[in-house]
Amino acid sequence: MSRPRAADAEVTVVSRIAATDTVTMLELASLDGAALPAWEPGAHIDVLMPSGLVRQYSLCGDPTAATWRIAVLREETSRGGSEWICSSVEEGAALRLAGPRNHFSFAPTTGAPVLFFAAGIGVTPIAPMAAAAAAAGLDYRVHYSGRARERMALLDELECLHGERLVAHVSGEGSRVDLAAVLGSASAGTVVYACGPGEYLEAVSAAAEGAGLELHLEHFEAVEAVAPVWEGAFEVELALTGVTVEVPPERSILEVAEENGAFVLSSCTEGTCGTCETPVVEGEVDHRDSILTPQERARGDVMYVCVSRAACPKLVLEL
Ligand code: FES
Repeated sequence: MSRPRAADAEVTVVSRIAATDTVTMLELASLDGAALPAWEPGAHIDVLMPSGLVRQYSLCGDPTAATWRIAVLREETSRGGSEWICSSVEEGAALRLAGPRNHFSFAPTTGAPVLFFAAGIGVTPIAPMAAAAAAAGLDYRVHYSGRARERMALLDELECLHGERLVAHVSGEGSRVDLAAVLGSASAGTVVYACGPGEYLEAVSAAAEGAGLELHLEHFEAVEAVAPVWEGAFEVELALTGVTVEVPPERSILEVAEENGAFVLSSCTEGTCGTCETPVVEGEVDHRDSILTPQERARGDVMYVCVSRAACPKLVLEL
């Protein structure tokens, strides 16, 4: 676990409701009653737990509202993050947080048709994106998958806002999304946004790639690691100090850079949250995160140093 980050803000919980029997919805306001900053659909905040854990939650309310809303799934395998929020955080409690930050932005400006896919708690970043698509008058559909209606957070709200553009796939009722059929029949130029568990995203990716559609994903879980491109040790020059360090195969750039005095914000240490984003000055990167799109990887101008490595003998990083 990386060291805790400094909090950007303290907020208070003004409302807490059980969205389902496993999802708790919190509405957050500033301590002095001033409006919290507006945000873009797809943004998330880092919540800093008293234990030192830092967890990311997508903002899922109205981006222009004075308060922020998050929905937290109580994970069966919680290491104290979701369990603490769902069982210990009451109305009136103060929460320390950082952000918002956005690695899953939605750009409705092109006017292209959009297909949204959400499974389970993956609906949280998709909900404000779909609302933005509706407000922009786009041609869009939302495919929302879950096991049972009563366990699908925000379902009533989405049905109300999107009507027939919302398609609920409830496996307990025998309904499952046919990704190949939906994506295979999408019109050319359709852009796809998806969030959900790893296997679900793999299936959406395969179907979107098969249909030749542009795809944007938000992973809550790290993608499975593959063998590194550069198997041995490599050097990293820390451009801000001019120090060059050696990164052995069994250690991350983040660990070695911190050990050598670089200050790097970090949180998940598994390439999913984006906190450790670092500009690349020189060198070829073996991207191993779950955040960047293929186009962003090809640009090679940033990397996530908690997991990504060099694909060459030496990198120069803005650290
Ligand atoms: S610390 Fe989360 S992506 Fe690196």
